[in-house]
Amino acid sequence: MTNQDTAQRPALRSQRLNQITHEPHSKLDALVKAHAPFETQANFARFVVAQYLFQSELAALYNDAELTAIVPDLPDRCRAEAAKADLADLETDVPAPIAGAVSNPSKAEALGWLFVSEGSKLGAAFLIKRAVGLGLSETFGARHLGEPAGGRAEGWKRFVKTLDGLELSAQEEAELDKGAIDAFNRFTVLLEQAYTPELA
Ligand code: HEM
Repeated sequence: MTNQDTAQRPALRSQRLNQITHEPHSKLDALVKAHAPFETQANFARFVVAQYLFQSELAALYNDAELTAIVPDLPDRCRAEAAKADLADLETDVPAPIAGAVSNPSKAEALGWLFVSEGSKLGAAFLIKRAVGLGLSETFGARHLGEPAGGRAEGWKRFVKTLDGLELSAQEEAELDKGAIDAFNRFTVLLEQAYTPELA
């Protein structure tokens, strides 16, 4: 193995996930911004539709017994109910499910999805500041972007530490990566759907 190979391979699993999702994250960030979610409450409501769909698709994983044995506060981390309450605040109907949700993923794949959902709480720190400009807050309309109990950075660090400490086979490592990439692809689909005129 050359020095270059070593440099390209992050020591920690979470760092590898950060690396492989860097490009999808940049693209999604640009796509979110292209829809100008902070220009009007109506635009923001469409963003919440995408967030709600994503979170509700992941609710089964957040409440899964095997996964909760790994991440004990997992059910508390779920934001499906918060996003649903935001939709009500924004006088927006709860959207019908959209075909293609994650279904029965392996444990490692599920952890890849959860990595992305949990990581998105970091970006939410920036997004909620913009939502305040629309008259929204973590108790009205932008609940799902609010600071999690116990702190945003702390919750993320605990999740990452747990993930980095797991024993995974080579196949599971590949499934983890797949789950993370699939999660970004799925959010992209849901975001596009949320802003299509038929649904808006
Ligand atoms: C569905 C998944 C995700 C969505 C929709 C999302 C969306 C966003 C958006 C729109 C921003 C820009 C905020 C601004 O500039 O005002 C952002 C920033 C950020 N996101 Fe994400 N994100 C997701 C997943 C993740 C993941 C998995 C991580 C970490 C592993 C992450 C970490 C961050 C961080 C640290 C920032 C702050 C600024 C930066 O470093 O670019 N996000 N995110």
